[in-house]
Formats: sequence, structure tokens, C-alpha cells
Amino acid sequence: MRDLIGYQKSAPTRFQQILGAQFDSITPENDMKWAEIHPSPGVYDFERADAVMRFAQLNKQQVRGHTLLWHSQNPAWVNEASTTWTCDEARAVLKDHITTVVGRYKNKIYEWDVANEIFQDTWDNGGVRLRTEANPFLKACAADPEALIGDAFRWAHQADKKALLFLNDYNAEGINEKTDAYYALAKRLLADGVPLHGFGAQAHLSLQYGYDGGLDANLKRFSDLGLKVAITEADVRIPGVEGREPTAAEVAEHASRHVRLLESCLANEACTSFTVWGFNDDYSWVPQTFAGEGWATLMTGDYQPKPAFDAMVAALTDA
Ligand code: G3I
Repeated sequence: MRDLIGYQKSAPTRFQQILGAQFDSITPENDMKWAEIHPSPGVYDFERADAVMRFAQLNKQQVRGHTLLWHSQNPAWVNEASTTWTCDEARAVLKDHITTVVGRYKNKIYEWDVANEIFQDTWDNGGVRLRTEANPFLKACAADPEALIGDAFRWAHQADKKALLFLNDYNAEGINEKTDAYYALAKRLLADGVPLHGFGAQAHLSLQYGYDGGLDANLKRFSDLGLKVAITEADVRIPGVEGREPTAAEVAEHASRHVRLLESCLANEACTSFTVWGFNDDYSWVPQTFAGEGWATLMTGDYQPKPAFDAMVAALTDA
């Protein structure tokens, strides 16, 4: 998310105007991640996160919190310390972080991505299993990573009884090996009385890959467990689009996939939120991560709404 520090209602930037006017819920893209908010041991920096909260309050928006337990964007001190952590030491650090961060925004954040991307992919070494190598906390507690995950939810719940607490991942839209693993984990956590409340499908789609039509059935199986569901980071990237305009077929497919994602959320009564991962191509994470790919968001770099934007407004208006 662009910088919201110093936001003044009287002189908002174009980005701020649109962010404030078009959305009723916002999510900090990076500002609540460990590296931003907990840069040194025992040192918290809430400046950017507080600015997001203030922006949301001024614009009467809700905030989705992101994220508390993840393998990426951890500060250097966590990565270094984790090489020698015992599980108890890792637990103490994670508990302090979750208690401090969730506690600071108690009753102000309606949903938290507590555990983000905790399963590996099918193509990773070892296949779909908990990330007990890449995630420093799960690594330290590799003997029983599920116990740590359950406690992460318990600590978050102790700090804020109202917030809905989510598992969240990419490639988690349809029914596949990864979502099967999440489904099994969710059942175990619920059976253990863990305050798990929701499952988030990030929905970073690419036109390069076929669209997984199992979305409705996947969301339904999680909501049938009594969980909330959400689309948490939607975007639809186009491969090879750098330096050219997308074709009419690509534009149409970009729009229809956005609408399809939105409709799947609207069709499920347990779907609490639909979040896009940025709304302007110039600020999208995609081109820095996938060479040549882009055009993933709802607006061009100069804030022209794309057909996907209008199609989503129409879908919401009809709903
Ligand atoms: O803050 C530094 C800055 O000081 C430095 O000069 C600059 C130079 O590269 O890097 C800045 O950090 C970047 C950070 O975004 C903030 O802009 C990192 O390099 C960059 O890697 C980081 O990328 C973020 C990415 O997560 C990291 O994995 C993206 O913005 C963010 O959109 C992306 O979001 C993730 C979700 O959290 C989880 N789901 C997948 C999604 C997309 O990868």
C-alpha cells in the first residue's frame, strides 16, 4: 500500500482519494508485516500501521490485518536468531509479537491473517507439508508445528476476542492437494478447540494457468466446517504484457475472472470480505516478481478503471 503517513482529508492524493472512496475495507500490503512493525528485538514501529488505521477510521473503513506468522518478510534479527532458537524461545518471541500487535489494534481490526502460507507447494522439496524449513517459527518447533499454529491463534484470540482469525494462502482457491491439507488442518484445529474462524483464498490468478473452477466447492467445504471464508488478495496477471497493450481477449478474461471470484464470495453466506491486492498497476507487486507479467489490478497506472472494475461494480450492484 502507498504511504498513508501524513494523510490529510483536505488534500488527499489521487491514490488516497480512490482508496478512501471505493473500498469499505482496506488491508495493509506490507505495513503490518514483521519486518516493518518489529524491526529489532523488543522494538516495535507502529508508524505506518497506525497511519493505515487512521486512514481507515477517517474514511469509515474496516481493516483486515495481515499477517502474524509467515515465512517471508521477517526482519533479519528473526532469521538470524532462529538458527539457534529452541521451540520455547521461538514461542516466546511469537507470543510477544502477536500479543503486542493484535492487542494494539484490539476491537479495530475485524479479521487477521494469523497464519499465512504455512504449507509448501506441491512442487517444493517434500511436497505439500507445513513449512518447517522456510518458516523460522515452525522450524524451531518442527517437532510439533501444529501445536505452535494452534497457540498462535489462541494468543491472537486472547489479545482480541472480537477479531476473526484466518488461515490464508495462495493456490488455495480450488480443491487441490494444498487445500486438502488446509481442510485437514482446519478440522484438527477446530477439534482441539483452537479459535480458528476463517479460511482465506488469496486468489493471485494468472491468465497463464487455467482457471480452477473448484472455487465454490472449496469455499463451501470450509464454510461447512463453520468457518468464515474470504477472498483476500485478488489480482489477475497477464503474462508477456510488458511493453504492449493487452489484447481484447485478455482484457475480457481479466474481467471475467475478477467477476467470477467476486461471485463466488457473494454466493457463499459465510464469505466475509473480498479484497484486491492493490488497485493500480503502477503499485502492483506483480512486475517485480514475475518478469514481463502485469496488468493485474483493476486500474491502469493513470487510474483509468478497466473493464474488470466496471464489471465488478455491476456484479455488486446486481447482488
Ligand atoms: O522496504 C524496502 C525498501 O526499503 C527497499 O528500498 C526496497 C528495495 O527492493 O525494498 C522494500 O521492500 C520491499 C517490500 O515489498 C515493500 O515495498 C521488498 O523488496 C519486496 O520484496 C516486498 O514485496 C512484497 C511481497 O509480498 C514480499 O513477499 C509485496 O510488496 C507484497 O505485495 C507481497 O504480498 C504478498 C502477501 O503478503 C502474501 N501473499 C502473496 C503476496 C504477493 O507476493
